[in-house]
Parts: sequence; C-alpha cells; structure tokens
Amino acid sequence: MKNLHFSNNDAMPVLGLGTWKSEPGEVYEAVKTAIKLGYRHIDCAPVYGNEVEVGKALAESFDEGIVSREEMWITSKLWNDNHAPEHVGPAISKTLQDLRLDYLDLFLIHWPINLKHGIGFPQKADDFVSLEELPLIDTWSAMEELVDKGLCRHIGVSNFSIAKTMQLLKKGHLAPEVNQVEMHPYLQQQDLIDFCNANNILLTAYSPLGSPDRPAQLKAADEPVLLEDPVIRKIADQINATPGQVLIAWAIIRGTSVIPKSVNPARIKQNLEAASINLSWYDWEAINKLDIPRRYVTGSFWEFEGGPYTVGSIWDE
Ligand code: A2P
Repeated sequence: MKNLHFSNNDAMPVLGLGTWKSEPGEVYEAVKTAIKLGYRHIDCAPVYGNEVEVGKALAESFDEGIVSREEMWITSKLWNDNHAPEHVGPAISKTLQDLRLDYLDLFLIHWPINLKHGIGFPQKADDFVSLEELPLIDTWSAMEELVDKGLCRHIGVSNFSIAKTMQLLKKGHLAPEVNQVEMHPYLQQQDLIDFCNANNILLTAYSPLGSPDRPAQLKAADEPVLLEDPVIRKIADQINATPGQVLIAWAIIRGTSVIPKSVNPARIKQNLEAASINLSWYDWEAINKLDIPRRYVTGSFWEFEGGPYTVGSIWDE
C-alpha cells in the first residue's frame, strides 16, 4: 500500500475505509473485515454515530494480534458544536474513549461551521454561532494544544476552502496538514490541489464514489450518478475492473488519499485491490475531462433563513 508522507515522515496509507453512513450494526464487521484484508487506515467521526462500534472492532483486532495500534492510521473529527476552545479537549477525549485509543493519528475540524454547544444538527437559524463570534483560528489554537498533549499526532481540516485554509496558515502556529474534502471526477478541484501542494497540505478525497447511499434529503432529483458514468464504465470494462475501482485508482494516481465507504465484504476487498490498479494515459485524460464541477454534499443543510451561513459563504464561491 502506498502512503502519503507528512513533514515529520509519518505515513498515511493512501486508501482508508470510510465510515460515514455505516450503521452501528454494520460498521463493526466492516472494520474487522477491512483490517483482516489489509486496510490500515480508518476514517471516523463522532457525528457518524458509530465510533463505539469502530472502537470495539479496533480493540479486538489489536487483542487478536491481527494488527498493532502503530500499524493503523486512525482519523477522527471535531463536530461543529465543539468549536469553542473549552470544548475541543473534551470532544477528543470522548472520541478517544469511544474508539478505545489513547491517541489519534489525525484530528480534523469537520466543517467551518459553528453550532451552539449541544446542538448536533441545526433546526433553526438560532442554533448557529457565526464565524465572526467564534473565529476558526480560536478553534484551531485549541486543536494545536491537542498535539502538544499527545492526544493526536497531526491536525487538519475538512470542507475548508482555499481562503479559510489560508486564514489558518497565516494565523496559526501549526499549519493544517490535511484537508479532507469531497473529490471525484465530477468535482476535481485542481485549484485546491495546487494550493495544498504548494503549502504541504495533503488531501483526502471523501465521497469518491459519489456517495450514492446519502439520505434522500441530501440528494437532488436531477443528479448524475457517478458510478454509472459511461466513460467510467467503459474504462472499467476495458481493464476488467469495476467502476468503483476505476474511481479509487484515479484518486490515488492523482496523489490524494481516498476513503471509500463500504460495509459489504466483497466491495471492501475490491476497493482495497483498486489501490494497485494503473490507468493508461488515455483513460486518465478521459476521466480528467469529466469535471462538471458538481458537489453531492453541497452544504445546503447549513443554510437557514436568517442564519450566518450560506452555500456560497461555506465554499467561498
Ligand atoms: P456498500 O456499503 O453497500 O458497499 P462513498 O464512499 O462515495 O460515500 O460511496 C459509498 C457507497 O458506495 C455505498 O453505498 C457503498 O455501498 C457503495 N460502494 C462501495 N464500494 C463500492 C464499489 N466498489 N462499487 C459500487 N458501490 C460501492
């Protein structure tokens, strides 16, 4: 398995198992299967509602000697209602307790969105706190302290635009080392890749398969289905792979890490095997032409009338 390297030479395996939308009853088996097959990177978050089950699978895998803690790369994220500096430490402690770990490899600010403490998902404009009232740099400073305390090895962000990442680069003591964003052939974001490369920030691509199992309310009626794209399907047929494998291979060849979610043993296996698939120059060029750009996870669920966030303000577009 290829790795992406941090400036201190720590190595993050390019392929990780995504756990967003993995039900608590399913994710335990999925993580155990993935580790047995050779996955060494698991992407988690408290808001996925399944860290206790992921933790059980990790603990058993360590106890059974299938893998050691040091061989695994575990990422988790800070939820939006814990952005006030005094809530950041307790938030990582809860995640560590649920995952049964004493450190994370990577801890990310999940969204550049503040919710009032105790609000998991907003119902009204008043559930939010604006970025003027609670600037991202305040949250970031509290994240930096977690590294000093040894609770996580690396810190980064998720769903951050170039402009918001730039704020942290300018004002923080530590630079964000990873930005985890939606990325796939329909949303290639080459400008973000160029910016991150220039600033030593690694990228992790989430929803690399187009997130077909998103809840219905997060789906648009007219949205194109990435896994059914004719170009992707044709390439898959030609190289005797599946469309999912072509999408994963493309993400890895691009130099990003990628975290396809699956709870199905056969697909968990085929996604891992995709890490060793090569694409011809001709296929590579054909996929690069598919950029729309089109977000599946638009962030519109943060937009409330009278609230402080809009889709435009989130992505700075
Ligand atoms: P399942 O969990 O049943 O395998 P994303 O990572 O973009 O969010 O996509 C996850 C979705 O894609 C899930 O519905 C998952 O279903 C499905 N999936 C995962 N791997 C593959 C694959 N190789 N081919 C087709 N669908 C896949």
